[in-house]
Amino acid sequence: MSKKTVKDIDLKGKKVIERCDFNVPLLEDGTIRDNTRIVAALPTIKYLLEQNCAVILCSHLGRPKGQVVPEMSLAPVAKELSRLLGQEVKLAKDVVGEDAQKLAKELKPGEVMLLENVRFEPGEEKNDPELAKKFADMAEIFVNDAFGTAHRAHASTAGIADYLPAVSGFLIEKELKFLGDAINNPQRPFVAILGGKKVSDKIGVIDSLLEKVDTLMIGGAMAYTFFRSMGYTVGNSICEEDKLDLAQSLLKKAKDKGVKLMLPVDTKVGKEFKEDTESKVVSYKEIPDGWEGYDIGTETIKMYTEELKHAATVLWNGPVGLFEFDQFAVGTNAIAKTLAEIDAVTVIGGGDSAAAIKKAGLSDKMTHISTGGGASLEFIEGKKLPGIECLMDK
Ligand code: 3PG
Repeated sequence: MSKKTVKDIDLKGKKVIERCDFNVPLLEDGTIRDNTRIVAALPTIKYLLEQNCAVILCSHLGRPKGQVVPEMSLAPVAKELSRLLGQEVKLAKDVVGEDAQKLAKELKPGEVMLLENVRFEPGEEKNDPELAKKFADMAEIFVNDAFGTAHRAHASTAGIADYLPAVSGFLIEKELKFLGDAINNPQRPFVAILGGKKVSDKIGVIDSLLEKVDTLMIGGAMAYTFFRSMGYTVGNSICEEDKLDLAQSLLKKAKDKGVKLMLPVDTKVGKEFKEDTESKVVSYKEIPDGWEGYDIGTETIKMYTEELKHAATVLWNGPVGLFEFDQFAVGTNAIAKTLAEIDAVTVIGGGDSAAAIKKAGLSDKMTHISTGGGASLEFIEGKKLPGIECLMDK
């Protein structure tokens, strides 16, 4: 059943509390390195202002674990929001304390304020009902637009909906549409590319994708666990020795389901974990002792990009190499470039793959880039997301 959005209720002149995911990366001097998540939240905030709402925004930043950590203040976010909206966004000195309550009470229609980092409160991650009620008492309606945090059952993402009418914003609506259509109603051939370090992090996702895709391409360090399970040595490459049976069972499942599971046929290995380390491309069967795999190799890039040219839907989660180092970003960049060129629906799971696409300057060439890392993975796995489940049904 689909969930009500801000368009489905009368918001005119109401006081609204909106949960966003402003968990943005900061530079050492405390300025924002990437404002994508803030920009993604603007359509709903602007809509609420058009409806003459008084808008109380809230979010977490980092993992302060219930303590006030000044470096994790939302002050840089309030500043950036003020700039993007062209109006002042007042930052409360606390989350639900005296200052927040006073500002919320005085907030007028057409004004926007931001509570301090909700994770400064110990009750947030425990989904404490008392804290949830304090959030709710500030407003008349709850809007959740924090897709990136929708997999967390916290006081400001889920608990609050016990006390207020709760609807989604446009970002959550958009994420559910693009990710949902890709997973449940894909145009075929449907190809998924999965990268990342560990098979164990992605078991649920691989398992669920094997039920849906025509082709599954594996990249990233998890490929080495597959090679090892096939009896090859992998040098110093990251490998989960206790997951070899699992890797074998996933290969078997792919075969049983008729899914084309593609593993790299060659890999770029390096001597040491550093930018300018000596490197070479070797067959997956011949990874030398003392070397570590950091990227897919030349033949694999050819094979994968060729396969992608025939895809109608592509879902990508996780870089296929150590893209932070230029010499090992070749595979990831080649995939990004191919996705930018092909005529297919291209949906990118958030986190590192989104960062890699941004680094390659190709963001606007993708159909959809999710703002959720963990949340998009759990959605792909078919798990229920508490921040969405708690919203009113249509
Ligand atoms: C994210 O960055 O994935 C979200 O903001 C959730 O953050 P968390 O993993 O600390 O809950």
